[in-house]
Amino acid sequence: MVAQRVVSARRASLSEPARPSVEVVTEKAALRSALDQARAAGRTVGLVPTMGALHDGHASLIRRAAVECDLVAVTVFVNPLQFDRPDDLPAYPRDLDGDLAVAAAAGARLVFAPTGAEMYGAGAQARVHVAGLADRLEGAARPGHFDGVATVCTKLFGIAGPCLAYFGEKDFQQVAVVRRLVHDLDLPVEVVACPTVRDADGLALSSRNALLTPQERAAAPGLHRALRLGVARAAVGERDPAGIAAAVAAALGTELALRPDRVDVVDADTLEAPGGHTVRLRILAAAFLGPVRLIDNLGIDL
Ligand code: PAJ
Repeated sequence: MVAQRVVSARRASLSEPARPSVEVVTEKAALRSALDQARAAGRTVGLVPTMGALHDGHASLIRRAAVECDLVAVTVFVNPLQFDRPDDLPAYPRDLDGDLAVAAAAGARLVFAPTGAEMYGAGAQARVHVAGLADRLEGAARPGHFDGVATVCTKLFGIAGPCLAYFGEKDFQQVAVVRRLVHDLDLPVEVVACPTVRDADGLALSSRNALLTPQERAAAPGLHRALRLGVARAAVGERDPAGIAAAVAAALGTELALRPDRVDVVDADTLEAPGGHTVRLRILAAAFLGPVRLIDNLGIDL
C-alpha cells in the first residue's frame, strides 16, 4: 500500500481561484512510479532535494525547476548521515505542513517525505565518497558530511531516475561534490546550480537562521559584509588569494558576535588552490553565532 495524501490550501471564498495542490508520497516506490509515469507520458522531471524548513532560497530552486521542467518533485528528508555534530540533528528545524505550502506555491506537484527507516532501512552499509573534493574545505571542517550528502543524493537520483536536479550555490562545495559524483558514476542527471537568495541585509537565507536569537540574527549579516569586503579588495587590484583571504578574515574578526571558523579563497572551477589557469575565484567562509554555524560564499572574476 502506497501512503500518499494530497494537500491543497482551502479557498477563502468561492470567487478566489483554487490554490495549487501538492501530492505527498512517503515511499520510495511511490516516487519512482510517479516519475516513471510522467516520463512515459513525455514529461520532463525536475528534482529539488532539501532537508525541509523551506524558505525563499528553496522556493527559488523550485520556481526555476517549474519553469524548466514539466513536473517538479521536492524531497524533504533531514538526512542523519550528513550531520557531523550530535547536537545539530535534533535541533534542525522541521515543518512539513509549512514545506507543503511553500512547495505548492512555488510550483512543485510532488513532495517526497520519507522516514529514516524508509530511506536507509536496516543494515544499510554502502556509502558514496568523492575522494579528495569531499575531504577539503567544508569537508575538513565537517568530517563525513559530504559522504552523507553524496550518499543521500546518489540514492535520491537512483529513486527519481532521469531528471534535472536543482542545487543552490549557497552550498558551493556541495554543488561541486554532486556534479562530480553525477559525472563519475554516469548518473542520468543534469545538475543545475542556482544563485544564493539573501535577506535585504545580505544574510543568505538558511533553515538554520531560524535557530538564531534576535541578537544573533542582527549580527549574522557580518558574514556577508566580510565576504563583500574581499570582493571589494579584488576590485581595487588585490589579486593574491592569500591577501583576499586575510582581508576577509580581518573583517570577520571585527564582527564581535561572530566566531570566525574558516575563510578560503579557491579556484571557483576546481575548488583547488588558485594557479595561473584560474579565471574565477570563490571566497568561502564559515562562522559561528552561538551554536549555529553559518556558511556563505561570493565569486570574483579575474
Ligand atoms: P538544504 O540545506 O535544505 O538545502 C536544499 C537546497 O537549497 C540546497 O541545494 C541548497 O544549496 C539550497 N539553498 C539553501 N539556501 C539557499 C539560498 N539562500 N539560496 C539558494 N539556494 C539555497 O543542502 C541540503 O539541504 C542537503 O545537503 C541536501 C542536498 C538536501 C542533501 O541532504
